[in-house]
Amino acid sequence: MVFRENITSSEEFCDYLYDLFKITNNDIRNIIGSFHSEMAKGLSGQKSSLKMLPSFTRRPSGTEKGKFLALDLGGTNLRILSVDLNGKRRARILAVSRFFLTKDIRHSTGKHFFDFIADCIKEFLENNNFDLSKKYELGFTFSFPVEQTDISTGKLIKWTKGYTAKGVEGKDVIMLLNEALKRKGFKYIRVTALVNDAVGTLVAKSYYESNCDMGVILGTGTNACYPEKLSRIEKFRGPGIGSEMIINMEWGNFNKLKLTSYDKELDKDSPNPGSQYLEKMVSGMYLGEVTRKLICELISRKFIFKDTLQSKIFSKKGSLQTHHIAHIVVDNSKNLEDIEKFLTEAGITNVTIKDKVILKKLCKIVSQRSAKIAAAAISAVITWIDPELHKEHTVGIDGSLYEKFPGYDDVMKGVFSELFRKKASKINLELTKDGSGKGAAIIASIVSTHN
Ligand code: BGC
Repeated sequence: MVFRENITSSEEFCDYLYDLFKITNNDIRNIIGSFHSEMAKGLSGQKSSLKMLPSFTRRPSGTEKGKFLALDLGGTNLRILSVDLNGKRRARILAVSRFFLTKDIRHSTGKHFFDFIADCIKEFLENNNFDLSKKYELGFTFSFPVEQTDISTGKLIKWTKGYTAKGVEGKDVIMLLNEALKRKGFKYIRVTALVNDAVGTLVAKSYYESNCDMGVILGTGTNACYPEKLSRIEKFRGPGIGSEMIINMEWGNFNKLKLTSYDKELDKDSPNPGSQYLEKMVSGMYLGEVTRKLICELISRKFIFKDTLQSKIFSKKGSLQTHHIAHIVVDNSKNLEDIEKFLTEAGITNVTIKDKVILKKLCKIVSQRSAKIAAAAISAVITWIDPELHKEHTVGIDGSLYEKFPGYDDVMKGVFSELFRKKASKINLELTKDGSGKGAAIIASIVSTHN
């Protein structure tokens, strides 16, 4: 073990960081154990970093049918979709529009925020020639922690992922959306379902494949859900629809991980200090920033980018994004030309091969920790459902980190092999694109058949 105060070279510093960010098999077992105890507490209504929120929906039967609208909000874009369900396990997107949510909108007031959404819905319907004299049912995927009291009512507990729009926390988001629709004079939209993106992903995947029992988001933010037996949800006393209910875990808030000083600093500077610790160590929104902090320390110790002008670029918060890291880790060329290209584009020239090698090492250290924690968290949920891995489990996963980060999936599978040996093949990770849009439409259809 290298001690921080004794470090004299970049090599030693990288070794130090490697140890600091390492997730050992023992760490993984501890994470799984703590996940299980936090899950139990969350389900019984005790204080827990895992909120284990009832979603008021179950998995679909596959026979859900009809055309529904879906509104998908939670990243940097807002998407509006029209989805057709054929009743035979096939969901087709008929039309989709994306609207960029500027910083101004994300940080504005609730009124402004929901008025913008209502305007986007109107634009979508007009552009796609919807008959505005008819009524449409809409499933709203709102990818933030929400305390639901039924399928179409739920209060935002706390904004995450850098959103701060005022006057929304503690309020029923469907009511806020309905009020905005009313202000704009729309009478043709009925918002029937409030859905989390992880829940939407599980529902969308299980519409196609009945043995899917977990939904995961690894993107800007991170989260997971799974179907829980009603009898195990001690805090839920209401009537269920069937014998299971999907639980939105809000695992991004899990707080039993060992934090480094870099994680603590990142948390302190974030708009939501003290919460979403796992998210800040795993998700796409933060990987660039954690890595940037490591680079800054190497620069300040004069181990890399010795030209001060160059180092200035990294001193700006947000200057390194997860997609940059993805480009850096994938460069296997002899002279790391792609890394050089990226640095040149960022205005950094005259870099040495050593600088590039170190940069790549740092990106790997941070991204591998993310993939290992994500795999540990998935293992925790699967072993909660099926401790001995008797069955096959399909995990529907959506999100740009999982989809686009080179080698992320392999690191996760490596963890499963270490933990479960031969039985690791029973866990199937499957990319589930558009789950949050299609899932909302499927849930709107479940609601429509029950009403
Ligand atoms: C939110 C979750 C969401 C996840 C992925 C987190 O920040 O709290 O509700 O599912 O991001 O979008």
